[in-house]
Amino acid sequence: MRDTITILGLESSCDDTAAAVVRFSKGRGDILSSVVYGQTALHADFGGVVPEIAARAHVEKIDICAEEALAQADLSLGDMDAVAVTAGPGLIGGVLAGVMCAKGLSAGSGLPLIGVNHLAGHALTPRLTEGLAFPYLMLLVSGGHCQFLIAHGPDEFSRLGGTIDDAPGEAFDKTAKLLGLMQPGGPEVERAARNGDPKRFAFPRPLLDRPGCDMSFSGLKTALLRARDAVVSEKGGLTVQDRADLCAGFQAAVAGVLAEKSRRAITEYLALRPAEPVLSVAGGVAANAAVRAGLETVCETAGLRFTAPPLALCTDNAAMIAWAGIERFRMGLFDGMDLAARPRWPLDTSQPALLGSGKKGAKA
Ligand code: KG4
Ligand code: ZN
Repeated sequence: MRDTITILGLESSCDDTAAAVVRFSKGRGDILSSVVYGQTALHADFGGVVPEIAARAHVEKIDICAEEALAQADLSLGDMDAVAVTAGPGLIGGVLAGVMCAKGLSAGSGLPLIGVNHLAGHALTPRLTEGLAFPYLMLLVSGGHCQFLIAHGPDEFSRLGGTIDDAPGEAFDKTAKLLGLMQPGGPEVERAARNGDPKRFAFPRPLLDRPGCDMSFSGLKTALLRARDAVVSEKGGLTVQDRADLCAGFQAAVAGVLAEKSRRAITEYLALRPAEPVLSVAGGVAANAAVRAGLETVCETAGLRFTAPPLALCTDNAAMIAWAGIERFRMGLFDGMDLAARPRWPLDTSQPALLGSGKKGAKA
């Protein structure tokens, strides 16, 4: 086994073009560079990510990103041991842009090629940031993802449940839109909710009455729309306080569902008798203080450690792809020029495929 592995990672599955260089040495990973070009401004007028626009922007930026990541690490392609790339799941045009770039770099340099599952990238991040040992429990909760996973190994995950419709970040963004707040909606809704009364409006806690860890967030948006319209038809408009109360009620419902479903996921996870039980969370919604507080309380009660990677590594980035590439490299898992870009790629193939597609692409 080599004691030092350095990998260039590429990510382009959604609306961030990213490249990073990560080195594994002395049993741990170090991020030597991480470059992310977001596309928020390009999609701002459309109320969601436009796949065609995203794909074109990735094609324009991905090689520049790779060059920048190498330059910032003060290394050249010749210093790499492999090129790792997100091969799915995601918006297919974007995934293709990354896969084609990685194949070009690999063919031109002779470096091995490693295709990485984007969700595995998120799920393996706490091993890069904190050296977590398997098995650990993971909650991915962002604008495009919402699922509980047990990570058993770099290439072995079991999915305990997830959203059957919208991801929570999407629901935050739609709530902001319905209330005339700015995008991305999560931070705006959280800010407004600070001065709100979470009890004034009774929002549903979907699927809590059903066993298991599956979740649903699309009904919340309809409930919010109804509550908003009821206030508007009664008073002729919304006051700042009405908005704050609506945001607080909505946020409490999301945080409540995530906490309760986490409690159930933890019970399943603890049945494995992990030596050091941990719940780690990733994704933009993990930045929400109410959501975090709910998860922290559940972990404390169940005797689990709670961790969250720094926000820049929770949201889409290429350091997680380079790291997942290092994990695959160490297992001897490489790909050839036939590596396919996949719009859907469930991490746990023993589970039935999820239907539906989120704001940011297929839910895998
Ligand atoms: O992980 P992320 O950057 O992108 C992907 O979805 O891949 O997550 C972005 C999502 C957005 O929907 C945003 O509204 C939400 O995370 N978000 C938040 C907060 N900050 C970002 N949601 C709730 N509270 C926040 N403070
Ligand atoms: Zn992601």
